[in-house]
Amino acid sequence: MKNNRKEEFLEIVNDILENETVQDLKNYKHHYGFTRLEHSMSVAYYSYLICKILHLDYKSIARAGLLHDLFFYDCESDDTRIEHHIWIHPKIVLNNAEKLFELNKKERDIILKHMWPITLVPPKYIESFIITLVDKYCALKEWSYYSAWKMLIWYRLLEKRTGFFQ
Ligand SMILES: [Fe+2]
Ligand SMILES: [Fe+2]
Repeated sequence: MKNNRKEEFLEIVNDILENETVQDLKNYKHHYGFTRLEHSMSVAYYSYLICKILHLDYKSIARAGLLHDLFFYDCESDDTRIEHHIWIHPKIVLNNAEKLFELNKKERDIILKHMWPITLVPPKYIESFIITLVDKYCALKEWSYYSAWKMLIWYRLLEKRTGFFQ
């Protein structure tokens, strides 16, 4: 059953995943220890699973989930991040995604509202609301992995330098 879901998910997003521009997301760091493609795949897959279980539109959320952060600049560096990135990037993403794929109304709303409530206009569809939660869950998970690794490295260094913890 579990493998069937993974296979179905991959079938739904296959054309997006194979697209060269989308693959370029591999080259951008997102939430420090991850690539933007990894983050987008997590958001897309968890959202797909939730919608599958709740009998919602799992196809639109899987496709829009994979596209929801399709932008090409480093948002973690002050030098490259565009001004007001948090508020503006959903519009940039929608513009990028529409150049590559035909999107339905729901997919457009999912992409455009994924930062809600930071962006004020509320989601129009339940699937758009689900992605706001899943995106934040994945971001927190990715940040906490990164922080845990960083703490471990600091602890090891401190241990080595001082011998304090031996
Ligand atoms: Fe985003
Ligand atoms: Fe995201």
